[in-house]
Amino acid sequence: MSAQPIPDVLAFPDAFVWGAATAAFQVEGSTTVDGREASVWDTFAARPGAVARGDTGDPAADHYRRYADDVALMRSLGLTAYRFSLSWPRILPHGKPEPRGMDFYDRLVDRLLAAGIQPWATLYHWDLPQSLEDRGGWTARDTAYRFAEYAETVAARLGDRVASWSTLNEPWCAAMLGYGSGVHAPGRTSPEGAVAAAHHLLLGHGLAMDVLRQHTSSPSGITLNLYPVVADSPADADAVRRIDGLQNRLFLDPLLRGGYPADLREDLARFGFDAVVRDGDEAVLGKPIDWLGVNYYRGYRVAGSARPGSTPAGREWPGADHVHFVPDPAAPRTDSGWEVRPGGLTESLLQVHRDYPPVPLYVTENGAAYPDLLRDGEVSDDDRIAFLDAHLRAAHDALAHGVDLRGYFYWSLLDNFEWAEGYAKRFGLVHVDYRTQQRTPKRSARWYAEVIARNALR
Ligand code: NOJ
Repeated sequence: MSAQPIPDVLAFPDAFVWGAATAAFQVEGSTTVDGREASVWDTFAARPGAVARGDTGDPAADHYRRYADDVALMRSLGLTAYRFSLSWPRILPHGKPEPRGMDFYDRLVDRLLAAGIQPWATLYHWDLPQSLEDRGGWTARDTAYRFAEYAETVAARLGDRVASWSTLNEPWCAAMLGYGSGVHAPGRTSPEGAVAAAHHLLLGHGLAMDVLRQHTSSPSGITLNLYPVVADSPADADAVRRIDGLQNRLFLDPLLRGGYPADLREDLARFGFDAVVRDGDEAVLGKPIDWLGVNYYRGYRVAGSARPGSTPAGREWPGADHVHFVPDPAAPRTDSGWEVRPGGLTESLLQVHRDYPPVPLYVTENGAAYPDLLRDGEVSDDDRIAFLDAHLRAAHDALAHGVDLRGYFYWSLLDNFEWAEGYAKRFGLVHVDYRTQQRTPKRSARWYAEVIARNALR
């Protein structure tokens, strides 16, 4: 009798963290209860035309009330970690502590711990209290100090139980889409505002890192959306430099190398960047972090001038108005219209590994929207399974190249409020019927659960 062949598997390291992610405004709903103040996203969503179909933060996935069932669901999938964000306007409405808001996260964290799931808390995932926006929002330096106060309130309460902390989620989006192109809340369109917001977000991050160190020994870091930027011709090198600069290096360099890149400071000087960056700030931005989170969805092919089918860089790219984004007509696309490029995940992880001092990395988000159909109680999302499989292979490839990658979080656990796209774009492993709030794990959820159980890809 011959021995059974050992199936080819791609094993992940022991203790690799397998999670799924959500964000407060996208899943919680219950936006007017328990003393919560409106966030910039409540205000923005109420503006006609700002969000597709006029969708708002209610009902979302009603997670504020159904969190216990959702934790049970996570457990049934075998997740080892859950990445969620806390809502600043619930916890400090109008700057005053609201115990009912804070208590929610206390209950959530305890529920996760009881289920054997590590709580990964993000302090800021874009839902700024409206009262702070009314005082300038992230264009105002003061907001960074208010953020540190909020971090203090949260860390003092949960510092003993949260497994891992993240200060900010995707500051690029908060700054550039919120204040540059105005596609996200608060919907402002000013390049000066966008670059000031980027700096103040990073300043808030640095101040919050100090606060976290005082209250917790749990690892703490930050999550960026990194995208590899490529071009076809050396003539496009400046376009690559600018987009890679604004998207990646503007954040990576001050966090990991102690200062902003000189070329960006030069480019952004005309938007008043030098005036917002004060002496001593870069030392605060560069406080050591224990890990860096990478959110990856797509890459960019750029050109220095128009090509057929290309789109000019929008207002979220201050100073890069001559740059064009060049589509790949052959690439498959998700329901968001984003090209599926798994190799870009490997490239982004390698960029950090190659160009910066060593830091443990996590993929804190990766996922795709597809037009999922619930039929006879099933969602057969084979396109999402293919996406996941390809991106997990790409993550494994990074490991094989020596990248210190320690975990992967799928975006998202649940279908939810996809910002300006509203509820139409479904990213979840679990389908949500927004009328009944019925949860149905998609086929991809079962597939992911098997990967987790095996700690390997077949
Ligand atoms: C990144 C953001 O952090 C998350 O909130 C969003 O829903 C996903 N990308 C998908 O666009």
